[in-house]
Formats: sequence, structure tokens, C-alpha cells
Amino acid sequence: MKFFVDTADTAAIKELHDTGLLDGVTTNPSLIAKSGRDFKEVIAEICDIVPGPVSAEVASLEYDGMVAEGETLAKIASNVVIKLPLTLDGLKATKYFKEKGTKTNVTLCFAANQALLAAKAGATYISPFIGRLDDINIDGMELIESIRTIYDNYQFETQILAASIRSANHVTQAALAGADVATIPPDVIKKLALHPLTDKGIEGFLKDWKATGQSIL
Ligand code: E4P
Repeated sequence: MKFFVDTADTAAIKELHDTGLLDGVTTNPSLIAKSGRDFKEVIAEICDIVPGPVSAEVASLEYDGMVAEGETLAKIASNVVIKLPLTLDGLKATKYFKEKGTKTNVTLCFAANQALLAAKAGATYISPFIGRLDDINIDGMELIESIRTIYDNYQFETQILAASIRSANHVTQAALAGADVATIPPDVIKKLALHPLTDKGIEGFLKDWKATGQSIL
């Protein structure tokens, strides 16, 4: 499973990139607003840090605007992925970018039929929003499972990018359901490494090691 970080915070991206665990980055207009920085500038900086796919989202709702904005964003760096909303215009723009060889991430997916359409349009990634479904008492993970089955039934190459992840458990469940990628907030990525028995084990081993009086170097 690939890991993308879901943030526009370049310091957090750099820190995670240095661990070697990061495969890419996703941003959205809310994350850009939170960064307080210029959109294109921040995307360029992220693309310099991470060589993998970096999703940058269009703001237009109409096809022509999406194409113009997507083309502008694609010029920032070769690893920019154009993020488009799951609307008919967004799907039409997805097909346009597919034909141009530009990668796309179709976002705000909340139903299996939407994911089927995104695959037919030639999306590189489909982003089902798990957390936002869970928020309204619908099992987000069932959506991932359904999309996995549909994509496997027809050998669609669109990658399932589990989004709106809120917890370490979401990551486990998405991996079990066969998501190709998970885009995860920085704090949740760090939590994946934590276990109280690991901490306790380290403490015990360290105590015993100190008692030997030895040094490895
Ligand atoms: C995905 O690409 C989105 O940026 C993101 O996962 C949205 O998550 P949220 O529901 O926490 O805003």
C-alpha cells in the first residue's frame, strides 16, 4: 500500500519524506487555505520535496475552467496530479487529461457508481472519503470494498486512494479492503508506528543493556 500525506504543511511533508515512508501528497482548497500561502507556490515547493504524485485541486466547476486551471497546475512540475471533483464536468475533464497523458485524482467520491464512472473516464486515482461517510453513520470502509470488487471485476487500472482518513484503524481497514493508496494526515501517519508494548519493551531492554556496562561503538 502506498502512503500519501494529506496536508499542505511543507515542514510536515519534509519531516515525513525524510523517513522514506512517503509516496506522495494530496492537498485540497481547505488545506491550502489553512497553510495561508500562495497555492501555486506551495505546490511547487511540495513537488521539490517529494518526487512522487502531488495532487493539486481545481477550483472551477465548469469543464472549460477545469481544463484551463488543470493545465496551469500541470505546468508547475511533472509530478503534479490534477484533482477534479466527481461531477459530470469533472469526469469530462478527467477524460481530457487522460487523453493528454496527465494524471488525475477524482475527489469527493461517496458512492460505488461514482467510482465506476471515474474509472470509465480514465482517472488515475479515485478518492473515496471514508471519514466523511462515517460522520453521517454510513460505513466508509464498505465503499472501499465495493469499489475494489467493481474495479477487479472489470480490470480497471484506476487506483483506489482511501481519503478522509481520521485514525490509524482507518488505515488498517483500508489496507485490508485492498485500497491501493491511503492519504493520511501527518499526525495519523506518526501514530501508525506507536504501540505501548513497543515502548515498554524498549524501556526494559535499555535498562538491562545499561546494567551490562557495555557500549556497541
Ligand atoms: C483527500 O484528498 C482530501 O484532501 C481529504 O482526505 C479530505 O479529508 P477530510 O474529510 O478530513 O477533510
